[in-house]
Amino acid sequence: MTAVATSDFIDKEEPKRTVMIYSRYERFWHWSQAALIFTLAFTGFSIHGLLPLGYKLAVQIHSWAAIALIVLWAFTTFWHFTTGQWRQYLPKLASLPAILKFYAWGILAGAPHPYTKTLKRKQNALQSLAYLWFMVVIGPALWSSGIAYLTYPLWAKMAAGTHALEIVAFIHLAAAYLISIFVIIHIYMTTTGKTPLHYIKTMITGYDTIPLSKAEAAYLAEDEPNRLKS
Ligand code: HEM
Repeated sequence: MTAVATSDFIDKEEPKRTVMIYSRYERFWHWSQAALIFTLAFTGFSIHGLLPLGYKLAVQIHSWAAIALIVLWAFTTFWHFTTGQWRQYLPKLASLPAILKFYAWGILAGAPHPYTKTLKRKQNALQSLAYLWFMVVIGPALWSSGIAYLTYPLWAKMAAGTHALEIVAFIHLAAAYLISIFVIIHIYMTTTGKTPLHYIKTMITGYDTIPLSKAEAAYLAEDEPNRLKS
């Protein structure tokens, strides 16, 4: 596979160090978002009649979990902008063909992953695109239609004789299916690391072994020594 000269592929030759790449808050929001999305999917598809939880209980749990998720998303959006971490989601498209080629057949032939995780870029181009799609399309479709659903009693009179509620329900259900597909693919992708549990362990402990440039290693040793394990 040809090396692509983009920042997604830098630093491969630098010495590897075990370093905390996911902060405590990042791991907290990732796992609490996961728990809330599972709860919302289970209760939401029960409301829809596909899963067995009773309607009334499902609506109650769904509404509280939805409010918790919206609060979590609001805090996390704030965190992304104040820490500059939002830049991680800007996909470096030049490296995308190599990544797609790897997932299309390189992975089956045991080829090495074309992308090396670095401190500055924790995600490959495909991940950035998928997460961007999640945050810019699926997330807003879910919370906006969900809030419209929650507040229906407030606008029911205005919507009488229109198809507004059906449109809201359609958008919410479509986004619910999309997020479910996203979660299934996401979980599958987590198993494609060095070992099937490698990525999951990294998101639990925060630590991964990645190439660090001399400048990054010096910065961490001086300013954030507890992020360096070895
Ligand atoms: C993000 C914030 C969310 C809000 C505010 C929200 C709110 C709501 C509300 C109020 C309902 C209608 C309950 C009723 O019939 O009284 C509903 C239904 C539903 N929700 Fe959510 N929800 C959210 C996220 C999610 C997520 C993440 C899923 C994940 C899969 C989901 C899946 C569903 C499904 C499948 C239904 C049933 C739709 C139907 O049968 O028409 N929701 N939601």
